[in-house]
Amino acid sequence: MKKIDLKISFEEYDSIEELNPEDKTILNTACKMVNTAYAPYSQYYVGAAVLLENGKIITGNNQENVAYPSGICAERVAVFYASSQYPDVKIKSIAVSAKAINFKINHPVTPCGACRQVLAEYEDKQKSEIRIILKGDTGKIRIIKSVKDILPMIFHADELKK
Ligand code: THU
Repeated sequence: MKKIDLKISFEEYDSIEELNPEDKTILNTACKMVNTAYAPYSQYYVGAAVLLENGKIITGNNQENVAYPSGICAERVAVFYASSQYPDVKIKSIAVSAKAINFKINHPVTPCGACRQVLAEYEDKQKSEIRIILKGDTGKIRIIKSVKDILPMIFHADELKK
């Protein structure tokens, strides 16, 4: 038996003012998108903003449904829209922020497994990394340089090849 440890790394910032102008812009956009999320069931409002290589910013937020699994996260709304409208333009980065009605989110929001898998698909397709910028309502900001850092042992397309 051999025990194997995996290490992940990310950056943490105390304030949005410390970010580079590009990261700051999309994070501010993601924060605004929180306000138009449709989340009557969880009352957990998430905004996302995707920066494309052509400079366009695509936004999204979570869209819930009374049949709960029919809803979709903010990250996937934004990324799927970006890919549907600009299929040949690379995604540089995605910023995500969240707010809840009944409590303060004082740590960075963290993308769910399905969203991580989706981001990984686009990293693979475009052959370059997607920077992930995460914030809560208050507190620190976390930056991850690639989704692979938060999705170890990913199910990869190579597995399908005989
Ligand atoms: N949600 C997102 O949109 N993104 C995340 O990163 C975490 C979770 C949404 C899904 C659901 O509408 C609500 O937040 C509560 O899980």
